[in-house]
Amino acid sequence: MNVLGIETSCDETAAAVVRRDADGRGEIRSSVVLSQIEEHSAFGGVVPEIAARAHVEALDRIIAAALHDAGLELKDVDAVAATAGPGLIGGLIVGLTSAKALAWASGKPLFAINHLEGHALTARLTHNIAFPYLLLLVSGGHTQLVAVHGVGRYERLGTTIDDAAGEAFDKTAKLLGLGYPGGPRVEQRAGNGDPSRFDLPRPLKGRKGADFSFAGLKTAVRLAAEAASPLTEKDVDDLAAGFQQAAVDCLADRTRNALVGSTVTRFTALVAAGGVAANRAVANALQRIAGENGLPLVLPPLALCGDNAAMIAWAAAERMSLAPSATGWSGDTGHPALARWPLDTLAPPQALA
Ligand code: KG4
Ligand code: ZN
Repeated sequence: MNVLGIETSCDETAAAVVRRDADGRGEIRSSVVLSQIEEHSAFGGVVPEIAARAHVEALDRIIAAALHDAGLELKDVDAVAATAGPGLIGGLIVGLTSAKALAWASGKPLFAINHLEGHALTARLTHNIAFPYLLLLVSGGHTQLVAVHGVGRYERLGTTIDDAAGEAFDKTAKLLGLGYPGGPRVEQRAGNGDPSRFDLPRPLKGRKGADFSFAGLKTAVRLAAEAASPLTEKDVDDLAAGFQQAAVDCLADRTRNALVGSTVTRFTALVAAGGVAANRAVANALQRIAGENGLPLVLPPLALCGDNAAMIAWAAAERMSLAPSATGWSGDTGHPALARWPLDTLAPPQALA
């Protein structure tokens, strides 16, 4: 089956066509991502109203490009899917309403997809792995450890009690004058720095459980930067390196706890997803933990770590393949856009009578 997916939950306008074979193998037939970074960079972060307007302006041609790249027309796809949450409500409404209109006009079923489920299932699209696996989802909006038992069966083992990891990278970048988006720039500067020069905290490290906290680390970076001010280029490198090392140590410690503390006796893999998974120091630490536990580390390619619509189309294809009966299934046409929509509230797909 071929599914058209649409993603507009944050600052990327994206559309994609993904194919799923009867044996469960996936293929990305097209994936178009338009980043709004330029629109938002002057403000140092994503401005929701600007994001929603930019989605409205771009979405039609992004969808047309995705269909064109796949060599398909709307009538050829088997379903239409869009992110329905969680995210910025204006953008979500733009994407979901467009998907509803396309589904209605073409008589195809509509899937209202949870953005986090898209990230959670990407490893099955790229690596065809089996359940259950442990997922570390680290993005600008989320930091969670999730036992993925099946499609729609997500057990949250830990989450952040304050900032998301990506948010901490972005705020550190802003504080060091590195601009937006911060993650890649902090990583770049950290590469030249001495991570041990500044003594920075590792919140929750060594404690029980798999929750995260980054607010104290962020504050410590700010205080260290103020004490060293005015900052030289070397100071910026060393602060970036110190922050990144502390963040990696926290992510690693919590991931270890989730692996050994979970009731799942045998995960098939350790999977990372979300923009921060693009960070090489993070990936190296996860590789070590996976190795210690005899598991493969599955890292989606960079283009699929960040937000994209292929993961949304794929989540819908996975759900569609499991729906006990597609006949009479009217889809999610009445589904609202949801700013908040926790992953562990989802359920496996069911046929609607
Ligand atoms: O998954 P994503 O593209 O969007 C959502 O938040 O859903 O993640 C974006 C986040 C941003 O906070 C960005 O700074 C961070 O991922 N990020 C990185 C790197 N690349 C992106 N953080 C650390 N190192 C990177 N190389
Ligand atoms: Zn995301």
